[in-house]
Amino acid sequence: MKKALALAQKGKGYVSPNPLVGCVIYSKEGVRIGEGYHERYGQPHAEINALKKVKDPSDLLDATVYVTLEPCAHHGKTPPCADELAKYPLKRVVVAMEDPNPKVNGKGIALLRKKGIKVETGLLEEEGRKMNEAFLFYIQFHKPFVILKMAQTLDGYIAAPDGSSKWITGKASRALVHQWRSEYDAVLVGRNTALFDNPRLSVRHVEGRQPRRVVLDGPGTLPDQLHLFSDIHEHKTIRITHNKGIGGNEDPALQLLQPDPFHGKNVVVPELNGHCNLEQAFNELGRLGITSVLVEAGSNLATALIRQNLVDKIHLFLAPKMLGGGTRSVLGLGVERMSEIIPLKTENWTQVGDDMLYTGYF
Ligand SMILES: NC(=O)c1ccc[n+]([C@@H]2O[C@H](COP(=O)([O-])OP(=O)(O)OC[C@H]3O[C@@H](n4cnc5c(N)ncnc54)[C@H](OP(=O)(O)O)[C@@H]3O)[C@@H](O)[C@H]2O)c1
Ligand SMILES: [Zn+2]
Repeated sequence: MKKALALAQKGKGYVSPNPLVGCVIYSKEGVRIGEGYHERYGQPHAEINALKKVKDPSDLLDATVYVTLEPCAHHGKTPPCADELAKYPLKRVVVAMEDPNPKVNGKGIALLRKKGIKVETGLLEEEGRKMNEAFLFYIQFHKPFVILKMAQTLDGYIAAPDGSSKWITGKASRALVHQWRSEYDAVLVGRNTALFDNPRLSVRHVEGRQPRRVVLDGPGTLPDQLHLFSDIHEHKTIRITHNKGIGGNEDPALQLLQPDPFHGKNVVVPELNGHCNLEQAFNELGRLGITSVLVEAGSNLATALIRQNLVDKIHLFLAPKMLGGGTRSVLGLGVERMSEIIPLKTENWTQVGDDMLYTGYF
C-alpha cells in the first residue's frame, strides 16, 4: 500500500477534481506484476493502468490488488474500475479508504464482494486521507479547501515599509511555494498584493503544471497591465469583484473559441462591509470545479479570512530576518474575539533552507 500511495502522489496537480489514486498488483507467489496511478484527469484510473502492466493475465489468478481508494462503480469519463477488476479471478482487493463520493460510496466494494473477491479496507487509511485532504473536503462541503500561505520575518512583519515583500523568504522556500502552486487547483491574491508586488503567480522554480489564478478585486479597477492580466499563461486570471458593472465573461465569440469556463472570467459576488463577500467568493470557485485554493495573503486579507473562519490549513514561513517596521502579519482577531486564543492543530515545523515552515490546521 505504501508503494501504491507513493505512485498516487505522482498525479498531484493533474487529476483534480478527481482524487489521487495508486494501485499495485501482486501475483499469488508475491511477485509485483502490475502498478499504475491516475495520471491525468479524464484519463484511465489507477486500477486500469495497473492491469494494463500485467504481462500474463493468467498471473491474475488469486492475485492481490492494493489500491489507495475504493474502486469506482460508476460510468464517468471512463468505465467503472470495480467492473474491470471483477473480470479477473482475483483473490483479494485491499483498499486504503472507501470513496465518499456519493456515486461510489461502498458500491465498488459491494460489487467486488458479490463477485466473490475478498475486500479489506482501512490499510494506511490515514495516509490515504491525508493525501486527498482537499478532494475529501470538497466532496463533503462542496467548497474548496483553503490553504493560507504567509511569510514573515522573525519580528513579525510580512512587508517592508515600502510594501515590498518578495525577498522575505529564501530560495528553497520560494521553490516550495511554486511546488504548491503546481499542486493546488488555484492560487489567489488580494488586490493590494496584485498592485504592490505585481506577481505572475506562475510556476517557474520547479517543473509542474501552471495553476488557475484568482485575484480579489472588489471595485474591479485593477489595471490590465498587471502581469496577472497581461501575461501569456495557460489560464486567464479569474477576477472576483463586487462591481456588477464590469460583468461576467459576456463575449459569446470568446466563449465559443475558449469553452474553458475559466477563460478571462469575472466572477461577481455580493459586497460585505465594503469588500467582496469572501465566503461567497470561495463558493463560486467551488462551483467552477476548483477543489483547493492556495491564498498568498497580505495582512488585511489574512485577517479577514481568519476572522471569518475561512482558512482550513496554514503554511507560515518564518525567515531569519528583521525588518523593524512595515506591515504586521495578522492584525488581530477583532473585538469580539479579542481574548480568544485559537489553538491550531500542528502538523509539523520543518526547516526549508534557512527558513522555518509551520504547517497546521484550523
Ligand atoms: N509576506 C507575505 O507572505 C505576503 C504575501 C502577500 C502580500 N504581502 C504584502 O502584503 C501587503 C498587502 O497586504 P493586504 O492585506 O493589504 O493586501 P491583500 O492580501 O492584497 O488583501 C487585500 C484584499 O483583501 C480583501 N479584504 C481586505 N479586507 C477585507 C475584509 N475585511 N473583508 C473581506 N475582504 C477583505 C480585499 O478585497 P476587496 O478587493 O473586495 O476589497 C482585497 O482584495 C503588500 O505589501 C504585499 O507585498 C506579503
Ligand atoms: Zn475508477
